[in-house]
Amino acid sequence: MFSKALLYSGFIAAVQAVNFTVKSSGGNATSPYAYGLMFEDINNCGDGGVYAELVQNRAFQGNPIFPKSTVYWHPVGSTTLSLSNDTKPLSSALTSSLQVTGGNNSIVGMYNDGFWGFPAVAAWEYKGSFWVKGDLNGNLSVTLQGNYSSDVYAKASVHVTSGADSWTQYNYTFQPTHDALAANNTLHFTWNAACANGPLNFNLLSLFPPTYKNRENGNRVDLMDAMDGLKPSFFRAPGGNNVEGLQPPYWWNWTDTLGPLEDRAGFPGTWGYENTDGLGLIEYMLWASDLGMEPLLAVWSGLWLNGTSLTLEELQPYVQSALDELEFLMGDANTLWGAKREALGYGPFDIKFVEVGNEDSLSKGGESYRAYRFKAFYEAISAKYPDITIISSFYDVDEKTGTPTYNASGDFHEYAIPLQMSSQFGYFDNYTSEHPILIGEYAVIEYDTFNKSGPEWYAGAPRALYPFWYGSVAEAIFLLGAERNSDKIIGSSYAPSFQNYNRWEWIPDLIQYDAFPNNTVLSTSYYMIKLLSNTRITENLPTTEATFGPAYWVAGRSDVTGSHIIKAAVYNSTGNVPFDVNFEGVGAYADGKLTYLTAPMNASSTIGNNVVKTTTENVRANAQGGFSFSLPEYSVAVFEVTAENCGKGYHYGSKSSRHGWKGWKNWGKGSVRNWNQWGQGWW
Ligand code: AHR
Repeated sequence: MFSKALLYSGFIAAVQAVNFTVKSSGGNATSPYAYGLMFEDINNCGDGGVYAELVQNRAFQGNPIFPKSTVYWHPVGSTTLSLSNDTKPLSSALTSSLQVTGGNNSIVGMYNDGFWGFPAVAAWEYKGSFWVKGDLNGNLSVTLQGNYSSDVYAKASVHVTSGADSWTQYNYTFQPTHDALAANNTLHFTWNAACANGPLNFNLLSLFPPTYKNRENGNRVDLMDAMDGLKPSFFRAPGGNNVEGLQPPYWWNWTDTLGPLEDRAGFPGTWGYENTDGLGLIEYMLWASDLGMEPLLAVWSGLWLNGTSLTLEELQPYVQSALDELEFLMGDANTLWGAKREALGYGPFDIKFVEVGNEDSLSKGGESYRAYRFKAFYEAISAKYPDITIISSFYDVDEKTGTPTYNASGDFHEYAIPLQMSSQFGYFDNYTSEHPILIGEYAVIEYDTFNKSGPEWYAGAPRALYPFWYGSVAEAIFLLGAERNSDKIIGSSYAPSFQNYNRWEWIPDLIQYDAFPNNTVLSTSYYMIKLLSNTRITENLPTTEATFGPAYWVAGRSDVTGSHIIKAAVYNSTGNVPFDVNFEGVGAYADGKLTYLTAPMNASSTIGNNVVKTTTENVRANAQGGFSFSLPEYSVAVFEVTAENCGKGYHYGSKSSRHGWKGWKNWGKGSVRNWNQWGQGWW
């Protein structure tokens, strides 16, 4: 490991005391900056992850890209398991099933591996179900048991009288008698061979633990709680690459993700495995509403990841599909698609943001997107839904101005090294407020690396397995720079959100987990975002000092809480940075609360070891209303003087017209500057 001195030779900034007053007016933005979430089925974080289904390969779905198989299923007794392509399938969507043949032993059947295990938690009541076709007349046992021990945690007995030629569904519940100390358990389906006559076919074998807000077909509680801790404002779904699909004819067709699970055929996901589509359009909407998030709906834009894009003529049905999707979500019961939603038992949802595609500048998509694809979607959607903010999937669609085109927003993505992100505090200062953008994906993904003349980035630089602290502080600097330009930036979402320890394609991620709930790890970046997101500034305010580095800050106040707020980060300094700050209008002896996060510079959190330390201090103003505190190097901080503690100071009155992040229309007009120059020269 390099010593810090070597790492930052020439880059360590000398401690510079920070001394400023936060003005009471004149800020550039009066809109809350939104911290949000981006999700997609990456790293096996759909089924068995956020989506709480515990049985892997429950419905034997597949296609030429990810062929159907019996993987994750194993025989019990002397049975043979095979994939049956049914002449009489369970449904037109689920056309194959698991055929269990033979078995002379008295107890026969099969077991499932789960998503690399099953959790057994005594406090949980689990709900399960399965479909069976074949001549079985007797009790079928479902047991949750140790993989390497004969420990049985939970058992249900289901009396089955199934017909040789018809499908029947059975439900079961069970509750473990005791906790398992790990998730290395399997789920067994067994019966007495004497009760069966001929082969048995099974399909849609499912098991759910308790779900968040007890939703049927819902999400895992601890991961939803973790997301809730971030107090996210928006939710971009169904993802980035996931919405695109790998190659024709597969794209994220929302109509295939609706209704009973028997009607969902599945989708060849873009991350190396089949998605069941159990997590469908309605489930994404409920997820957003359960966490109080504004849904930001991504629609397919006619580009596949293999570089195929549709011609203008071919595109039209997909433009219509996006309109249908919006009618499905928002239309009343008198509309064609609204009626279909009502028939499923859901009232209308409210969509204020639609993103057209994902990263269409990549995969050879830029030219067609600029020429006609974005235009086709933009014109159709804005004609019918003029209040929806439409977001292009890259920000510089208009090549002349280097901004989004039409009256649109754009999506800015950045995966970087710490050196890059930490030097981008001013990145958005010269951007325009005419086309506010979404920072839909960002993360520090690699450690800084060095050649003889200093830090450098090169393809193949060491990729981080997990977020690490100095990377998280670098992200904080980037975010503070965005937040102080919140008239130009809608908000930001770290990407991606989840990593299953057992199978992942993309690192690093915000939250790591596996089947055992005690193994969930909230990363260093998670805690950084949580701190910045949980205290919201609704009106940015200027400060008298504006020399940044090694300390960076944004200041303002909240018209919701009446607080005066400073958010700050200190990067590679030679020691603690002293702050002396005043707020215009905050009086003598007012009380403020300082919360700051620190961790060893290179450290990442791992199972059972959260490296982030939270320190809180009360800071009382002096007779002149000045607050003094200091922040350590590599720290992220929020300093808040609440309305009750302002002394004789300012109390915020009426709410700003943009309170609540209602979209950017009518935001900060007239500050167009150097459209082509913004963000250049970041190092
Ligand atoms: O966040 C991971 C992936 O990165 C997203 O799917 C894609 O949009 C980007 O390339």
